[in-house]
Amino acid sequence: MEHHYKVGVIGATGMVGQRFMLLLANHPWFDVVVLAASARSAGKTYEEAVGSKWAFDTPIPERYLGMKVLDAEADMEKIAAQVDFVFCAVNLDKAKTKELEEKYAKMEVPVISNNSAHRFTPDVPMVIPEINDNHLAIIDAQKARLGTKRGFIDVKSNCSLQSYVPLLHPLKAFGIEKVAVCTYQAISGAGKTFTTMPEILDNVIPYIGGEEEKSEREPLKIWGEIENGQIVNAQAPVITAQCIRVPVSDGHTAAVFVSFKNKPSKEQILEAWANFAGYPQASDLPSAPKQFIRYFEEDNRPQAKLDRMEGNGMSVCAGRLRDDSMFDYRFIGLSHNTLRGAAGGAVLLAETIAAKGYFK
Ligand SMILES: NC(=O)c1ccc[n+]([C@@H]2O[C@H](COP(=O)([O-])OP(=O)(O)OC[C@H]3O[C@@H](n4cnc5c(N)ncnc54)[C@H](OP(=O)(O)O)[C@@H]3O)[C@@H](O)[C@H]2O)c1
Repeated sequence: MEHHYKVGVIGATGMVGQRFMLLLANHPWFDVVVLAASARSAGKTYEEAVGSKWAFDTPIPERYLGMKVLDAEADMEKIAAQVDFVFCAVNLDKAKTKELEEKYAKMEVPVISNNSAHRFTPDVPMVIPEINDNHLAIIDAQKARLGTKRGFIDVKSNCSLQSYVPLLHPLKAFGIEKVAVCTYQAISGAGKTFTTMPEILDNVIPYIGGEEEKSEREPLKIWGEIENGQIVNAQAPVITAQCIRVPVSDGHTAAVFVSFKNKPSKEQILEAWANFAGYPQASDLPSAPKQFIRYFEEDNRPQAKLDRMEGNGMSVCAGRLRDDSMFDYRFIGLSHNTLRGAAGGAVLLAETIAAKGYFK
């Protein structure tokens, strides 16, 4: 099937926005035609607006340097007229983000969002493409509520849970009963670098606002079912989470403990991980990692610095699967928080939506 879409990036100057610019510079389906951010950046070229905030060793792709940044709010009509859909990653409070995203949707612009504002709106799907692409079917009910023909909102889940939910999902057949997880999260997850977050050097910060609630709650929506035009959250498993900021640039690590109704063997778990593939792999989508889950046999892997770029930062890594004295098993997970966990996951989600025909 031929796919070609004109795309806007709302929040293009931020940490996640910058990742979008790198990922989309040579994308086969998506052509970035509009960059937008706050009124502070509006009217400047992308190069001027980003300035010293550019967070990567790879330079800004040349084609974006001279593009004028628009105001995501004041220029909304102009933006809507130029694009087929937008990616949205803005640093705004929840109410304003909700309003902004809904305004775009009502202007018939689909919104693929990295923001948390709409994650628990019951008819807004929160999709990890390998896990719950079936939730996209709720889009029709959402459009009916919004009164739109093609405008809708689809959100990504929080980056924290992408380091363990993809590893638990293939094990659901064994009846996951309870999960305890501790995440060790990179500073780019707060939109920071070592320059802008010097307090993290030689340090561990035991609090990330709102993150533990998201880590416990969002998986239950992802594992939920569509009933009467709403996504009804799953009731199980029980999840308890602690989320900690550590001095790592990119890559969230998770220490996971899990118990099952029917305890599988270690071999069954390894086999379930090795063989797990979803719609993106079956459809060979441009950003899909060929191997979704990579298990490391070495005791000292996966490591954030060595392994976060596995599958171009889109695979999820696992290691150290072993018996536990309180739970059935414990293991380590790792995923790249701004690739799989943010911009990369959003691009894969948009590819899934495009391939399934929801942008038509
Ligand atoms: N970093 C991650 O790993 C990660 C992962 C998952 C989800 N997220 C989510 O993604 C979103 C962005 O995160 P980030 O780390 O990229 O934040 P960030 O680096 O602080 O960037 C925020 C962006 O929002 C823009 N913005 C601020 N006020 C605005 C307004 N009134 N209208 C339009 N744009 C406005 C900023 O534009 P100016 O430059 O003009 O101020 C900038 O482009 C957040 O909701 C965050 O929770 C982040």
